[in-house]
Amino acid sequence: ATYNLLLLPGDGIGPEVMAEVKRIIEFLNKKGPNRFTYDEGLVGGSCYDAHQVSITDETMEKAKAADAVIFGAVGGPKWDKVPYEARPEAGLLRLRKDLALYANLRPAVTYPALADASALKRELVEGLDIMILRELTGGVYFGEPKTITDLGNGQKRAVDTQVYDTYEIERISRVAFELARKRRNKVTSMEKHNVMKTGVLWKEVVQQTHDREFKDVTLEHQLADSGGMQLVKNPKQFDVIVTDNLFGDLLSDIAAMLTGSLGMLASASLGEVDPKTQKRKALYEPVHGSAPDIAGKGVANPIAMIASFGMALRYSFDMGKEADMIDQAIAATLGKGLRTGDIASAGMKTVGTEEMGSAIIEELEKL
Ligand code: NAI
Ligand code: MG
Repeated sequence: ATYNLLLLPGDGIGPEVMAEVKRIIEFLNKKGPNRFTYDEGLVGGSCYDAHQVSITDETMEKAKAADAVIFGAVGGPKWDKVPYEARPEAGLLRLRKDLALYANLRPAVTYPALADASALKRELVEGLDIMILRELTGGVYFGEPKTITDLGNGQKRAVDTQVYDTYEIERISRVAFELARKRRNKVTSMEKHNVMKTGVLWKEVVQQTHDREFKDVTLEHQLADSGGMQLVKNPKQFDVIVTDNLFGDLLSDIAAMLTGSLGMLASASLGEVDPKTQKRKALYEPVHGSAPDIAGKGVANPIAMIASFGMALRYSFDMGKEADMIDQAIAATLGKGLRTGDIASAGMKTVGTEEMGSAIIEELEKL
């Protein structure tokens, strides 16, 4: 098949790490049988400089038409003073909103060569491979009312509202169970039904969806606070963790620190399946930002970006074998001792972005 990608490199190190993805695409096109074509667009500060907006309508249309969007990173001090609506992050937020990307997948995987980079002891994280699934378009970040009111007596009142409807919980649980079926068949749902109504409904709907459609998958429920403790105490007990927008924001950052550097962390955001084409809207991006402190130096770690593209192969294109190959090539490259600055321990020799990319492609060629 031929797949059409939209590449949005963005700002700072975004274009530097995206360049390595282009080389992986070239490698896959040579190997066949699937072929990738791609278009590129501006997003974030670089788009503001050219068009005074952080993403253009034309690029949005391309994003909607593409089989997947591959996103680098946006932002930087250069754009600190641009109007709020045109700030670099607005481009990413519009993509998430207009593509209705409600499911955010954040894998936490420990590569053997980096097990000592974890915030935890080696034996707790060796072989770790968990998936945090965060609801991304609902909950307290978007619920109305959302206000700050002056109470007039020197006091103000701030209100945020957590809202979840049945359909929102149902669709994110389906993604969780489907993911688990391709992994170790276990889902842990986290909420706080002891103090929150949204937690009560969350737990109920996840359980019903399980009982109706996914009886073959093991389902457990945990309170999000003690779940956070368990994540640090014994992370390997988990397979897929599904949780709301707020708890997911916190728990995915905690899980990230079990595995090491920002430069290693990949993510995917998935939307609805189009009933006509049977394709799911999707955007793949590294967890890190534009890293202005190292931009332009050719030293950024391209692994998070490459691993994000690997997720595209797995979740948008049914190319699980090629996705596994990318993971293996990354592991082998690290195993040989190659390190960018962010993942090197004291005294280790470091390589640049391009050299790391070349080494990964070299390993891919051996597989
Ligand atoms: P950051 O993720 O850009 O950088 C944090 C630290 O990690 C820096 O020291 C950076 O050098 C290092 N780092 C990040 N990625 C790396 C990589 N691939 N290789 C080596 N080192 C890496 O976060 P920060 O500094 O808070 O934000 C910088 C800019 O990026 C800001 O404008 C922020 O708004 C934006 N940002 C954008 C995101 C996105 O596009 N999704 C996400 C987070 C921040
Ligand atoms: Mg966060």
